[in-house]
Amino acid sequence: VNTSSTQSPPAFLLEAALLIEERLDQWLGEANLPPHLYEAAHYAVVNGGKRVRPALTLFCTEAVGGSMEQSLRAAIAVECIHCFSLVHDDLPAIDDDELRRGKPTLHIHAGEAMALLAGDLLLPLAFTQLYEGNYKPEQQVQLMKELAQATREMVVGQVYDTLGGFDPALSPNDCLELIHKNKTGSLIRCACVMGGICGNASEKQQNAITEFGEIAGLMFQIVDDLIDYQGATAHVGKTTGKDAEAGKMTYPGTIGVEASKDAVLSLHAQANDALTMLGEQGETLRSFNLWMAHRTR
Ligand code: IPE
Ligand code: IPE
Ligand code: MG
Ligand code: MG
Ligand code: MG
Repeated sequence: VNTSSTQSPPAFLLEAALLIEERLDQWLGEANLPPHLYEAAHYAVVNGGKRVRPALTLFCTEAVGGSMEQSLRAAIAVECIHCFSLVHDDLPAIDDDELRRGKPTLHIHAGEAMALLAGDLLLPLAFTQLYEGNYKPEQQVQLMKELAQATREMVVGQVYDTLGGFDPALSPNDCLELIHKNKTGSLIRCACVMGGICGNASEKQQNAITEFGEIAGLMFQIVDDLIDYQGATAHVGKTTGKDAEAGKMTYPGTIGVEASKDAVLSLHAQANDALTMLGEQGETLRSFNLWMAHRTR
């Protein structure tokens, strides 16, 4: 695979990210918050993230024949959960990080109490998006169920990542998969699944989207590990080299850099295979998948 042309985000992602940023700004403004809490939440959310998850929601809706407008609220909901997970992930008690998206983390900016509480706030705000969206009652129930399940799995993954507690029968590779599929894979799968639900996917389309999300989600965190292992802080926008320092279980730390890169390539191919039944409508997701495998930040 030629990586040199695939490392910067594709134009369609940058375009979707602009739309997402705009709606995040607008809908956060409508949340009726006291000024200091609003400021903190805004700092954590409207700050130039890559918007991978909400973009996946929008593109999955399109891939099953729907239009982005149908899944914007669901997309924003997933990004709210993601931003909540980042704010809490960065806290001194978890990863103790001081740089996020190229800026001081929220607890450095506004203090730990505000970071805890603004993170908490984003959880209900995510679900608010789902009932503010113009979804049919049965869609709404499915969306809430998916988002609740993925959020629960994200928390489970964060506990394994931070506190361990694995079943002693598990091999190191099984433990790694358990951490990564839960802490990161679940929300990425959910972003895709929600896109399918909003676009009224057929059962076959929905299965394809779910499988794609599941595989791409695991791949995404292996790439994140590689970026931490070998990226430069100034380029990445978060302090790199921290996983090894903190003794985290990562792919490069456990199976080595080359085997991790091989795992990424293999998952990239598997994720593409999952898209086969979508035909030409899966093209944007294929390009997205390629970029996710080769991104450097
Ligand atoms: C970082 O996610 C945390 C992970 C779960 C890997 P992203 O790489 O999507 O971070 P942002 O949203 O672009 O800042
Ligand atoms: C992210 O894992 C998992 C989350 C649920 C936030 P990391 O701890 O590796 O994410 P970064 O590298 O801090 O973004
Ligand atoms: Mg972490
Ligand atoms: Mg972290
Ligand atoms: Mg990381």
